Amino acid sequence: DSKRLAPTPPMGWMTWNFFADNINEKDIREMADAMVASGMVEAGYNYIFIDDGWQGGRDNRNNIIADPKKFPSGIKALAEYVHSKGMKLGIYSDAAQLTCAGYTGSLGFEEQDAKTFASWDIDYLKYDYCFAPKDSATAVERYTKMSQALRKSGRDIVFGICEWGQRKPWHWAAEAGGQLWRTTYDVRDKWKNLSCDENAEGIIDILDINAELHEYAGPGRWNDADMLVVGLYGKPGPSGDMGGVGMNDTEYQSQMSLWSIMASPLIATNDIRNMNEATKRILLNKEVIAVNQDALGKQAERKVHDGTWDVFVKPLQNGEVAVAILNRGDAAKSYSIDWAKLGLKGKYEVRDLWAHKTVGKGKGWKGRVQSHETKLFRLKKI
Ligand code: DGJ
Repeated sequence: DSKRLAPTPPMGWMTWNFFADNINEKDIREMADAMVASGMVEAGYNYIFIDDGWQGGRDNRNNIIADPKKFPSGIKALAEYVHSKGMKLGIYSDAAQLTCAGYTGSLGFEEQDAKTFASWDIDYLKYDYCFAPKDSATAVERYTKMSQALRKSGRDIVFGICEWGQRKPWHWAAEAGGQLWRTTYDVRDKWKNLSCDENAEGIIDILDINAELHEYAGPGRWNDADMLVVGLYGKPGPSGDMGGVGMNDTEYQSQMSLWSIMASPLIATNDIRNMNEATKRILLNKEVIAVNQDALGKQAERKVHDGTWDVFVKPLQNGEVAVAILNRGDAAKSYSIDWAKLGLKGKYEVRDLWAHKTVGKGKGWKGRVQSHETKLFRLKKI
């Protein structure tokens, strides 16, 4: 069932890192329109995920309701709109009485809320873990309870587990009914977390946690490295300060390359209505997306990790291999690698998925990589 619900990593756009809880139906409809107009939907980003802040409490029958000021037409009407655009709609709740941002959670109302979500034609639930006990047993119990409620709801609803990797969900989340699980605390729009804020991660901090978990991923069971911060440039929208200083396009391109090769969900959170050319080029690169969405469903293994260079290898369905080479250092440097060192015997034709051209043929590759740049290649045996 999990394989059917999420055969490849989910893709879409999520409200949180741009809007935080300042969301409303008008902005989300505009974003849905922009997802179509910009080519995002065509490229595969087919979910709109409403995050925290949509809730308006419970009615006198304890049914969870949307905030009538933010969503005057209701969530069902929004789902209908999003579906009419060829997309699916995700919603958010928390395995406690309150969500992280202090809204109504689902603890004790799992079946009732799952039915409500199904009646609204919701396709996905992100289930957060603020205000819940720290131990793993309770987490397994609460996530299992909600996943069973979703299965009983009569609708296919993908279940995203969000306890930030703190109880090693890669060991239990699939069995608890999740199709994906966050592996870290929240992503921020920055390269590295220099402020040591333990609840916010730069993309390199996330990379170093998520990279080690490759063996747990597969169709219907994905390590979720959190949102793509591509295109935020340190300026989230009405969310105010999310603690990101911003990155340059080389770094955003690295996040896209690395999240793709790690088979993480690809979930944008930038303002799709106002994207510059660089952001579009990064988010809409179909050759890169194809690596992420490859049907074999393998997460890349990190084969080199020496302080400056990270090299990732991801086998693909048709026998080709994706390879990512990241320069973590502060200066541009030359690199040379023999494919045999990665366990790849023989000669290969190398296609650069950012340059969109063949850049070499043979037993290895040699070239210059900018500081914080990631080369993403597709190797075909010759
Ligand atoms: C914590 C999660 O990790 C974030 O992605 C977001 O959902 C917020 N909670 C919402 O309060």
